[in-house]
Amino acid sequence: MTLPTRVKIVDVGPRDGLQNEKQAVPAAVKIELVHRLQAAGLKDIEVTSFVSPKWVPQMADNAEVMAGINRLPGVRYSVLTPNLQGFEASRASRPDEIVVFGAASETFSQRNINCSIAQSIERFAPVVAAARAAGMPVRGAMSCVVGCPYEGEVAPERVGYLAGLMKGIGVQHIGVADTIGVGTPLKVQRAMAAALQHFGLDEVSGHFHDTYGQALANTLACLEMGVWQFDASVAGLGGCPYAKGATGNVATEDLVYMLHGMGIATGIDLDRLVDAGEYISTQLQRRPNSRVATALLSQRAS
Ligand code: HMG
Ligand code: MG
Repeated sequence: MTLPTRVKIVDVGPRDGLQNEKQAVPAAVKIELVHRLQAAGLKDIEVTSFVSPKWVPQMADNAEVMAGINRLPGVRYSVLTPNLQGFEASRASRPDEIVVFGAASETFSQRNINCSIAQSIERFAPVVAAARAAGMPVRGAMSCVVGCPYEGEVAPERVGYLAGLMKGIGVQHIGVADTIGVGTPLKVQRAMAAALQHFGLDEVSGHFHDTYGQALANTLACLEMGVWQFDASVAGLGGCPYAKGATGNVATEDLVYMLHGMGIATGIDLDRLVDAGEYISTQLQRRPNSRVATALLSQRAS
């Protein structure tokens, strides 16, 4: 077992987190959240998505949010683009990276992006080709790698199948996502191993929702495989609008605390990260959904 000495964290809070909010979140608040995340040392921030505003109204302000960010050198601002229309719409915002997103489960693919897995690959292929021709890195996300809200358990073979298709169209990095947070460490390791049949260790990341409280354990299981890139969401924001009942990603605060406690570097200042999580939670009129943030905030208060 060789644990990585450094981990790259992509904070997906502004996108995965805020896409699921019932209340309208002003663009100015999203922009301020991005500023606070970069002030805390985040070098990778998933800002928004160029999807249909009829499907996900919260992301309708995508261009406004991208335009409002004071970009720091060395920070990568990524956006989701499900099709060529979304990719073209994103161009004026100059994203540093784009993300195409598919699902290991057929039903989830239909519910989330209104097409089959095979059709999704046909839609992604020209997006990937156009992005790569423009010198833009492309990440792929695979939803429902252990469980689907409609189909139940998902076999690792389904993950391997989708990863192979993604690789085949030129996707450079694959995210292994437990969309509904039902995974446990060995199942997640099997899903990750299926992705690793097609992508190298430096080309995979874990994206674990924490619905059942397993996300840190699942992260540790992947660290033990040598995986060193993970998505997380500040204050544990989020969920997917097409996965009812699923809660947010593992809180970035919790992930950073665990990694630093293990002597694994992230480049992130935990105190400033807690500030960012407190900021957005206050805006949403709730407490951060992070055990670490709760502990540190109560320590500060006393
Ligand atoms: P569709 O209806 O099949 O698309 O939706 P269409 O090509 O048939 O077009 C229909 C209408 O949508 C047209 O408008 C298009 O202009 C418009 P109308 O003529 O009816 O006025 N349209 C668009 N508008 C803006 N941007 C676009 C776009 N494309 C078409 N890019 C589509 C297909 C993918 C667009 C739709 O299903 C959609 O937007 N889905 C949203 C899915 C989504 O954002 N889900 C949440 C993110 S994924 C996630 O959270 C999981 C992840 O975190 C990993 C994990 O945890 O699993 C990544
Ligand atoms: Mg997600």
